[in-house]
Amino acid sequence: MRFSVSKHRFAGNPYIALLLQIRLTASSMNQAWHWLRDRLFSRNSTTSQLPCFWQTDMHSHLIPGIDDGVQTTEQAMTCIRQLAAWGVQKIITTPHINQSFYPNKPAAIRAGGEALRQQLIDEQLPVDLEVAAEYMLDEGFPAHLDGDDLLSFGSGRFLLVETGLVARSLQLEEILFQIQARGYTPVLAHPERYHYFYNDPNALQRLRELGCLFQLNWMSLSGRYGPGPKKQAKLLLKHNWVDFFGSDMHRPEDLPKLQELLDSPFYEQLQTQPLRNQTL
Ligand SMILES: [Fe+2]
Repeated sequence: MRFSVSKHRFAGNPYIALLLQIRLTASSMNQAWHWLRDRLFSRNSTTSQLPCFWQTDMHSHLIPGIDDGVQTTEQAMTCIRQLAAWGVQKIITTPHINQSFYPNKPAAIRAGGEALRQQLIDEQLPVDLEVAAEYMLDEGFPAHLDGDDLLSFGSGRFLLVETGLVARSLQLEEILFQIQARGYTPVLAHPERYHYFYNDPNALQRLRELGCLFQLNWMSLSGRYGPGPKKQAKLLLKHNWVDFFGSDMHRPEDLPKLQELLDSPFYEQLQTQPLRNQTL
């Protein structure tokens, strides 16, 4: 009604009429694009009603026995079966690579991924499985960067990185720069878990300005890591700073905490985030 009144008022002005026409055309094109995009990029419309609308889980520890994640193939399959039932169509699993505890080599991660993929085929579970890694930004990381065999994911060459939870790395900004200089896009795993970012949203904002993307942990919203990370997770949602959403699941015992989110108010908020999971 408001539109038709203003249209009527300016009906005699050819310039306004032209502007209105252009605006209508742009609006129609926008609608057409969304229609086309939904059909071209939706992997499987039959699963669109399932809760995991983000379709790809890009952070987990599901290669048996190589880090603190699952220890057996059966545990991995229990996790994957449930993710699939919730609508996850693709899993990019990301074992730890760090100097102190899990100095995993890319070849071993790829081999573990291949064995798990075979298991999925044997069980006829319709889930794509890829491997990447969660890199600790420790003293060993520059050698990985120099070696040019980094396990990144997606067409954006996304590189999942983490730091220690308590102490801030003094070289963090420099390392993020180096990662980007090599053509990768840094994705900081679970920024809500780092104590040194508590009550410091400006520091998080600064990382984003430096080109670092953020991955929120699914279980942070369920309180799995305590009230601090949950509060920070809410902050990330409030600022629309969630570029990727990941389960970071380590074992079947994590499944009830994942389920909790699906029934919580945060689930709706998640739908307004600029998530890139669906593009992977
Ligand atoms: Fe992780």
